[in-house]
Amino acid sequence: MPLERDAQGQLHLGGVSLSAVAADAGTPAYVYDLDAVAASAHALTAAFDGAAGHLVAYAVKANTAGPVVRTLAAAGCGADVVSGAELLVALACGVSPDRIIYSGVAKTDRELDGAIGVGQRGIRAVQLESVEEIARVEARARAAGRRFGVSIRVNPSVDLGEVTHAHIATGHDEAKFGVAREDAGRAVELVGASPYLELVGMGMHVGSQLRETGAYVEAARSLFELVRALRASGKARSLVFVDTGGGFGVDYGTGPAAAPAEFVRAARAEQRAFGLDDLALYVEPGRSLIAAHGVLLARVIQTKVADAARWLMIDAGMNDLIRPALYQARHRVVPLRGAVDPARSRGWRVVGPVCESSDDFGEHPLPAEPPAEVALLDAGAYGYTMASRYNGRQLPVEVFVSGGGVVGRTERVSIEAWAEERARAGGIT
Ligand code: LLP
Repeated sequence: MPLERDAQGQLHLGGVSLSAVAADAGTPAYVYDLDAVAASAHALTAAFDGAAGHLVAYAVKANTAGPVVRTLAAAGCGADVVSGAELLVALACGVSPDRIIYSGVAKTDRELDGAIGVGQRGIRAVQLESVEEIARVEARARAAGRRFGVSIRVNPSVDLGEVTHAHIATGHDEAKFGVAREDAGRAVELVGASPYLELVGMGMHVGSQLRETGAYVEAARSLFELVRALRASGKARSLVFVDTGGGFGVDYGTGPAAAPAEFVRAARAEQRAFGLDDLALYVEPGRSLIAAHGVLLARVIQTKVADAARWLMIDAGMNDLIRPALYQARHRVVPLRGAVDPARSRGWRVVGPVCESSDDFGEHPLPAEPPAEVALLDAGAYGYTMASRYNGRQLPVEVFVSGGGVVGRTERVSIEAWAEERARAGGIT
């Protein structure tokens, strides 16, 4: 069940009244519809048309909540992790090590040891993001006495220009991510020469919030061309998969985005065209699996009306949802009770309580008589995971919905506990 209003104008997510959730859990609160998350994973998996060995490696950074990760694991997803901590979450949520890949430009030895040492053979692959990293990963595999799977993340050298926000474009020449295309051959040779490393994959990730398939397909072609050339010269014989990354965009209310399945179909078509159909295709979506299935609930604290603007001050701030402050992102703000009648709405500038000018969710059409509670939409991805305790703010709670009811929620840590911990910092009192 999607986000919908009932006959009385009450907003529901997954069949649960959000006003009831706000009353019970307090605000700010993230609410996630686990059934809709599972459905989005199934829809994406179906796009592979049963291709052998494919993997939807869910980018755990988008939402690390156990119920979300477990739901996606049960729907057949693996995991793409970027830290030792995310690896532990994925494992604790039942993702099998051979369905986990690990990306990141600066993995510590301890993190590598965790990835190499788990299970019978370690995780599926550590994604190498620089030539320099190869010797470091090899040293840890040698220390573990294991031959270990690695994948080379190639920087496809695609400038996303106007396609997405500069902060979330990763596949261009100046990005810190990935092995430069011209260094890829050398990286393959170095891996091939090591008795401890086995090259199982070649991958890329061009950036995030791509609303059309064009740049993704262009980058995939660049990767496939490279893989085809390497194989033609007798290299990279041990490859098992190609990984075209994540980045499938969502509609934040500004217009439709291509469905995740379309990205997969387009990448599969290119893969076949390049004669690489014997390899499995891996993708690494985060946002597209969950953004639309989560909302952030907030209460209106007060208004402020001046000549310059009409502010609606809510109890959720940039510490709870930083995307507007960091990327000028827009999340629609809607009342929990009563649909907005455009003829009677007013533009309210919705802001949080944090002492920063950027703690601003933008102007939204809301009733002239402001609602008591609002929901910020499409907040399931990169919401809670990027939250902080700036200004001594409590972290928001998370509420999980499934089968038409609330199935669990987290507890809010008290401000007293935070004050005490800060006051005693360093053990100096
Ligand atoms: N794989 C790699 C290697 C990545 O770096 C990322 C995201 C993903 C997969 C998943 O991308 P997605 O499918 O979610 O677009 N905090 C930002 C997004 C940062 C994305 C970082 N990397 C935001 O809120 O828009």
